[in-house]
Amino acid sequence: MRHAVIMAGGSGTRLWPLSRGDRPKQLLDVVAGADGAPHSLLAEAWERLRAVLPADTIWVCTAARYADQVRAALPELRTDRLVLEPVARDTANAVGLTAALVADVDPDAELAVVSADHVIRPVERFADALRTAYDALATRPRSLVTLGIRPTAPATGFGYVQRGAPTDRPGVAEAASFREKPDRATAEEYLASGRYLWNSGMFVWRARTVLDALADHLPASAEGLARIVAAPAGPARDAVLAEVFPGLSKISVDYAVLEPAATEPGRVLVVDFDVDWLDVGSWPALAHTLDDDGAGNAVRGPAVVLDGAGNIVLSDDPEHLVALVGVRDSVVVHTADVTMVCPVADAERVKQLLGAVQERY
Ligand code: GDD
Ligand code: MG
Repeated sequence: MRHAVIMAGGSGTRLWPLSRGDRPKQLLDVVAGADGAPHSLLAEAWERLRAVLPADTIWVCTAARYADQVRAALPELRTDRLVLEPVARDTANAVGLTAALVADVDPDAELAVVSADHVIRPVERFADALRTAYDALATRPRSLVTLGIRPTAPATGFGYVQRGAPTDRPGVAEAASFREKPDRATAEEYLASGRYLWNSGMFVWRARTVLDALADHLPASAEGLARIVAAPAGPARDAVLAEVFPGLSKISVDYAVLEPAATEPGRVLVVDFDVDWLDVGSWPALAHTLDDDGAGNAVRGPAVVLDGAGNIVLSDDPEHLVALVGVRDSVVVHTADVTMVCPVADAERVKQLLGAVQERY
């Protein structure tokens, strides 16, 4: 059967101070829902999957401390489809844990893995690409399928998939190579060559296939995960999870599985994913979801900019006005307990700033 999991355990540190340890970006109400009211990126990811799958086949994997917020955001989520990690061990282990649990209830399950931090339009094209990816498993069941986006910039925060030989299915090619987060010069080369797609961070594979790939490339994790699901569901399994999971090494599925697997000819496939796509990872990306003030500033909440453009200005307190004059290309974010200011060009360094703040406070 077809299942899917939303990876929703990231901490979103580059969107500090809006995104916090106890309320990360995927749980913030930053996008307008179908009814116009703001809702979370997680709720949006759920609705996208519901265009393709029934609610009881959709799983969510997140940190135990976000459990209540996730349940509140997703009233349709079944209790036994919520996978809770005691600590974050990155996506290789989050995907592996979910795949092991899915395979435990449905050994032949096909599992889509999607991110919780994306804005994707239109939903119909997402649904088509996802169906194409599931369908590709019918003839190539051992494949690791990724959805690939046409790159528009030499971004260094994404994975790159090199399109190789076509397959017999339209829109599906073999991946000739996979490279996670290349340096700037390499990213520029990839972009110029026209042969690479951005890895959207969304994958489709059989649950068993990704567990086999983990056994090949990250055997300690594969063994740990097997121990966890060997225990009967309930308190016994929770106890093994609490004991074993923190000991797994922190690594993303892109580095741990996709990069090495793509060196095997024909093992990784890439589906053309032709949508408007935004990874809401940093302030300039989030700015696309804010309003334009008519003078080229992205704003939310009470904000006034005089003689300035290219700013991203957000006040999350309706009673607190942020006012700028003569300021250009800056990020100004006001929350109840923190005000953060940085040049747009330094937006990637917010993570570093948060590190420095945490050392002092
Ligand atoms: N459950 C769980 N546990 N989820 C996690 C964890 C974890 O430890 N760490 C991250 N996630 C979730 C995030 O919430 C997000 O939805 C998704 O997994 C991807 O994590 P990011 O941290 O946002 O990854 P990235 O953006 O740096 O890179 C990935 O996505 C890019 C496209 O958005 C990679 O797959 C890249 O190759 C890809 O280009
Ligand atoms: Mg991301």
